[in-house]
Amino acid sequence: METSSADKGIFNSDSSDTREHIVELLTKAYWMEIETVMSYLAASTNLDGVRAQEIRESLAEDIEEELGHAKQYAVRIKELYGVVPGSEEFSSEQSFLQPPEHQTDVVAVIRGVIEAETGAIEHYTRIIEETEGVDPVTQDMVIAILRDEQGHRRLFEGFLREYEFEGKA
Ligand SMILES: [Fe+2]
Ligand SMILES: [Fe+2]
Repeated sequence: METSSADKGIFNSDSSDTREHIVELLTKAYWMEIETVMSYLAASTNLDGVRAQEIRESLAEDIEEELGHAKQYAVRIKELYGVVPGSEEFSSEQSFLQPPEHQTDVVAVIRGVIEAETGAIEHYTRIIEETEGVDPVTQDMVIAILRDEQGHRRLFEGFLREYEFEGKA
């Protein structure tokens, strides 16, 4: 039997393809977080009206959390020997979270946030599945982030329900 060098898991030299694939998934996640920061910053600033106050405050808190997620993704990309991309590689996807026609349109923002969080939940679930048994450290990190996104979505679903109940959505 051949004596192999210590198993370094995802850092094994024959795991480089897998590592590159995970870096791609993490890079997409990184851009999703960055775009979410942009969208939430705009929405939390643009919204007008008494009814919007709660949503504005909630979004303002989320900006910090989403930026924290982006930082974690960046660090993990680096740890896996990837390169955190520059701004020229960014392309936007959140057409559903552009400023609404009327800045009192809280419901449009709530729906946009739910869609953004759902997109994140789907992509992060995929990363968790694809890192199963391959890269437990990335998987662990993404599980924690996924929980945050589930919490965000649940909160905004509650906001939407309130508007629906009042017949305003
Ligand atoms: Fe996030
Ligand atoms: Fe989120």
